[in-house]
Amino acid sequence: MSLEINELVKTYTRRGETHTALRGVSFSAPEGAFVTLLGPSGCGKSTLLNMLAGLDRPTSGRISINGNAVYDSGASLFVPPGKRNISMVFQSYAIWPHMSVRENIAFPLLNGRKQSRDRRQLEAMVDAALEKVHLTPLADRPAPLLSGGQQQRVSLARAIAQSPSLILLDEPLSNLDANLREAMQKQIRGIVSEEGITAVYVTHDQKEALAMSDMVIVMSEGNIEQVGAPRDIYYYPKTRFVAQFMGAPNLLEAVVSHVAEDGREAAAESVLGKMVFPVHGDALRQGDKILLVLRQEDFRVDETGSTENFSGNNRYVLPVLQSVFLGERMELLCGMDEAAERRLSVYVNARLVSGDSRSVALHYPAEKIHYIKE
Ligand SMILES: Nc1ncnc2c1ncn2[C@@H]1O[C@H](COP(=O)(O)OP(=O)(O)O)[C@@H](O)[C@H]1O
Ligand SMILES: [Mg+2]
Repeated sequence: MSLEINELVKTYTRRGETHTALRGVSFSAPEGAFVTLLGPSGCGKSTLLNMLAGLDRPTSGRISINGNAVYDSGASLFVPPGKRNISMVFQSYAIWPHMSVRENIAFPLLNGRKQSRDRRQLEAMVDAALEKVHLTPLADRPAPLLSGGQQQRVSLARAIAQSPSLILLDEPLSNLDANLREAMQKQIRGIVSEEGITAVYVTHDQKEALAMSDMVIVMSEGNIEQVGAPRDIYYYPKTRFVAQFMGAPNLLEAVVSHVAEDGREAAAESVLGKMVFPVHGDALRQGDKILLVLRQEDFRVDETGSTENFSGNNRYVLPVLQSVFLGERMELLCGMDEAAERRLSVYVNARLVSGDSRSVALHYPAEKIHYIKE
């Protein structure tokens, strides 16, 4: 494992009050993995990143990089940041304004611990880094004359030019507009993967985390809620928090009403009615309280309001309260109870549905139902 964190705790004391920013965080990641720390503002993402970099001292725990401990409270070990072979990219670019693009990239190499390089070797390293981020034509431009996206590419080039064993990125794209952000997500992911560098990337944007990562670590209030590949986190959230944070609006509280004798299939009652689904993971018993996670895009929809085109369980007819045209899809908000207080959000291909129907037939394939035992 390239990165191992064990029981990491960080407590801040300010004006006599203590605040625990990390409550015993543990995880490990293989070499070359692109790991994302995902969670709302204040959950401890930057604190964890700063501990990895050595910019701040943890309260207790252990951090090891490429098999070497860089922090171990038990052994009173703390390796200073300059000796960890880590580079960092921040939201605020951290570009030196009085230098050109080339000088910005060269500066840490000149001042790094590998003093033995000659000038030609250094130039070649800077040129290679410039090439990778497509900034060769702007090499001699003063850094402040670059756009936000270009400045962030300079930060990235500066980080990879040092051939770090670990690259840490703290919300590097938060200051960029949506289109540029998506383009940069792909660039960063592409460059970091090509270099084979292990990366820890911080974001509060779940789509960004899904798009970029091999492994997502969802955090909440100084704890890890779930660790998994993007698909696991998205399709199989383990807690209500993770489901909500991953943008699942259809969370239905339900009570298990029946479990098949072989334990492989169950039925549950919710506001939507009866749902039948295969039992996976946690075993279920009659009377168990569960949360059903229904993904908006997994519904099948018949605008004529007839369920006859669907086969199997989990077919419903619901009134359409609102339809919202979103371009690549349409969102239908359907009422689930008499008072229409509980709404089900369903996505359909906007070309297939007019959005004018007053009620629709819905089918949720049983095998796509995910449940969380509460
Ligand atoms: N230097 C500090 N002194 C006191 N509290 C801090 C300090 N740095 C962070 N915190 C607190 O620790 C918690 C986690 O902060 P942070 O790691 O910056 O969150 P995130 O990056 O996820 O938004 C917050 O409650 C924050 O106020
Ligand atoms: Mg932060």
